[in-house]
Amino acid sequence: MTASHPPYRVLCLSGSLRRDSWNRRLLRAAAAHAPATLSLQLYEGLGQVPLFDEDLERTGPKGLAGVDALRSAVAAADGLLIATPEYNHSLPGVLKNALDWLSLDSPQGEVLDRKPVAITGASTGPWGTRLAQTALRQVLHACGALVMPAPTLFVASAASRFEDDGMLADEALAASLHRMTIALERWIAQLRPDTQEARLVCG
Ligand SMILES: Cc1cc2nc3c(=O)[nH]c(=O)nc-3n(C[C@H](O)[C@H](O)[C@H](O)COP(=O)(O)O)c2cc1C
Repeated sequence: MTASHPPYRVLCLSGSLRRDSWNRRLLRAAAAHAPATLSLQLYEGLGQVPLFDEDLERTGPKGLAGVDALRSAVAAADGLLIATPEYNHSLPGVLKNALDWLSLDSPQGEVLDRKPVAITGASTGPWGTRLAQTALRQVLHACGALVMPAPTLFVASAASRFEDDGMLADEALAASLHRMTIALERWIAQLRPDTQEARLVCG
């Protein structure tokens, strides 16, 4: 099938900053198995986002370079794909911290408002981040993001899914990532303002 639009830009956020993180590997694998209608890019600057402090907002852009870069990247993206680990039955502070910054109005606007988002997550345990993803969904909802309801993807026993070099070694997971990214492409297409306007015009 020929794409009828330029690839949608999807910014990928990993809730883990760890170099060999399973969640980063999962996002790289998602990029490898996505349809040509999506262009996935892993955001590498989450570690430069300071701890949330409303006072910092008043010190100007100099004190907020990490936040500014993240806001701009999110604003420029057609959609987000977030992979979260689970820490103590919830999402990691790194991710919650970034989302708290992104939830504020800013020179780039309210960048999460009506932003199409898909979520997934990998953990080494047997539950595959079910609690973390539930908490993440709730936070994103509060920020006005539009979280794709299905398909869900909980990656348990993450260490057994990848080769030593970080490449995906699990055909079923590769197929799930392909399904999820196809669904994300449709989710973005259906929520785009031009699609919504066309629906209103056509009744
Ligand atoms: C502080 C801490 C708390 C954790 N809590 C949980 C948990 O509640 N549930 C779970 O399934 N895994 C838990 N884990 C395991 C992580 O989900 C697992 O190490 C995961 O692979 C980390 O993500 P990463 O590989 O992307 O860095 C915890 C790990 C850490 C370091």
